[in-house]
Amino acid sequence: MNKEEWMEKGYVTEPIDKSLDLKKEINRLKEEKNAVILGHYYQSDDIQDVANFIGDSLALAQWASKTDADIIVMCGVHFMGETAKILCPDKKVLIPDLNAGCSLADSCQAEAFSKFVKEHPGYTVISYVNTSAAVKAVTDVVVTSTNAKQIVESFPADQRIIFGPDKNLGRYINKITGRNMLLWDGACHVHEKFSAKNIMALKEQYPSAAVLVHPECKEEVVQLADKIGSTAGLLKYAVSSEKNVFIVATESGILYEMRKKCPEKIFIPVPPEGEPFKCNECNFMRLNTLEKLYNTIKYEWPEVNVEKSIAEKAVKSIHRMLDISAKLGL
Ligand code: 13P
Ligand code: SF4
Repeated sequence: MNKEEWMEKGYVTEPIDKSLDLKKEINRLKEEKNAVILGHYYQSDDIQDVANFIGDSLALAQWASKTDADIIVMCGVHFMGETAKILCPDKKVLIPDLNAGCSLADSCQAEAFSKFVKEHPGYTVISYVNTSAAVKAVTDVVVTSTNAKQIVESFPADQRIIFGPDKNLGRYINKITGRNMLLWDGACHVHEKFSAKNIMALKEQYPSAAVLVHPECKEEVVQLADKIGSTAGLLKYAVSSEKNVFIVATESGILYEMRKKCPEKIFIPVPPEGEPFKCNECNFMRLNTLEKLYNTIKYEWPEVNVEKSIAEKAVKSIHRMLDISAKLGL
């Protein structure tokens, strides 16, 4: 089947010759096409192995803004591809599976969010990077979980702020900054599946362990944390900590890099509520596979595109985040 037939049928993955060494082929194509593969920590281990860079949402945006590659292959979810395309409109931005969405981004539809913003004149709009380009277009400054606290604090204490879409991150930032931002009622279905009950059970089993929690988790989970942080923040903490055992409450893909960086330490993934023998994986992130990545880089498809009029507005709120982060050394 050629590319046209493959696309016509709406296939995401073309059948692949089983004898191919996919990692070798992907690395070869990467060089040949001057392509860079950017991967989020929540990708499968084999995708992390072939990525040029692995990082959190902030790092992915920073690398995309700096790369001189002709093609960016975003191994993450759609909003990450959109962010890269907005920052690099002249580059080809690819994603292995266009259906890799995000429940948190979906919990904030642009039309409803724009209406909410219009109903609150005089408010500064701060949006988590986990949003569509259309939401970023009505946003003053984008944040990630790595820089949200510092960016919120860069505004005067009496500044009225709308924060969307993650109510859990918003509540946590309100708490640590003493602000009273107006929160959008959105959440990530993966992080909401962690429960205090599961963490308490693991703590009983491993009493000396440190509990690492992503701020997208519910309050009952965040309250049990020894460290609350973005994926990169949790990784950094694990590397520098004197502890040897860590209970990890975020998508389990991060454990691959944690174990690589700290082979002598023990990392225990918290299972999702009601599924004690499973790791908590993001079904959207895991739509990307090594096979799809191979087809994507080979055929340079599927491509992420953003409507020009939306991109021109959204780029300002993303650049503002990158500028503040650079000044803060983040
Ligand atoms: P960070 O990697 O920025 O912590 O984001 C977590 C996440 O849920 C990405 O979708
Ligand atoms: Fe979205 Fe949650 Fe998946 Fe991250 S883990 S991509 S926030 S659904």
